[in-house]
Amino acid sequence: MSTLKVSVWRGAETGRFQVYEVPRLESQTVLDVVTHIQRALDPTLAYRFACRVGMCGSCAMTVNGRARWTCRTHVDKVADGDRLEIAPLNNLPVVRDLVTDMREFFDKWAKARGRFEGEKTRRDDFARVTPGSPERQAADAGIECIGCGVCYSSCDVVAWNREYLGPAALNRAWTLVNDVRDTGNRERLAAVAGDAGCHACHTHMNCTERCPKQISPTSAIAGLKRAAALAALRGELEG
Ligand code: SF4
Ligand code: SF4
Ligand code: FES
Repeated sequence: MSTLKVSVWRGAETGRFQVYEVPRLESQTVLDVVTHIQRALDPTLAYRFACRVGMCGSCAMTVNGRARWTCRTHVDKVADGDRLEIAPLNNLPVVRDLVTDMREFFDKWAKARGRFEGEKTRRDDFARVTPGSPERQAADAGIECIGCGVCYSSCDVVAWNREYLGPAALNRAWTLVNDVRDTGNRERLAAVAGDAGCHACHTHMNCTERCPKQISPTSAIAGLKRAAALAALRGELEG
């Protein structure tokens, strides 16, 4: 049986890589490797996962320099020979080892007004958007985001400017701008039109290239730029 040499980040903002030898198995995922280390070699290793099937987004880490869902990443696809390097996501504070603090990521969703704001009450009929309608398709483009942070961790602008709302929050804002049931767009466009909002994006496309759900935050941000410019021309962003 061959062996993987796995360098794993240990510590917090300061720390070091520690090397573990892990048996290489068929169809092994990077999450399997981390789990083996924690269960068989070093129970003090901290990491995060939940679903193991690409639904929760909690297992994202930096694998050989690139942010990925570890549960859906096969070792054979990413190992450099027999070597793997596993680190926490970039652009987020490290709590310990492979665990990042996601608070600023989700705080930015809130700042971008990424929460649905409707006007119906429980006494009203359901607000329907017909499947297949252009309105539904526009809202669908980014709706499957699961908040994993892969795009955020891959964005150079976030690395330079920690105030920047980032691709996931802006993608969420654009999804709601396109939701015909939502009533909060004036405030939402004002929230994303500031210096740390959509206009800070340099269209590097890392977010779109790396999103495991094939979402294009870059397109969403381009849509927000257009909508924010239009709202500014109409004088809707003032006050
Ligand atoms: S847009 Fe994609 S990469 Fe970014 S948080 Fe959502 S699912 Fe993850
Ligand atoms: S397209 Fe914009 S949000 Fe996406 S990685 Fe590039 S700078 Fe960041
Ligand atoms: S463990 Fe849920 S997406 Fe990987």
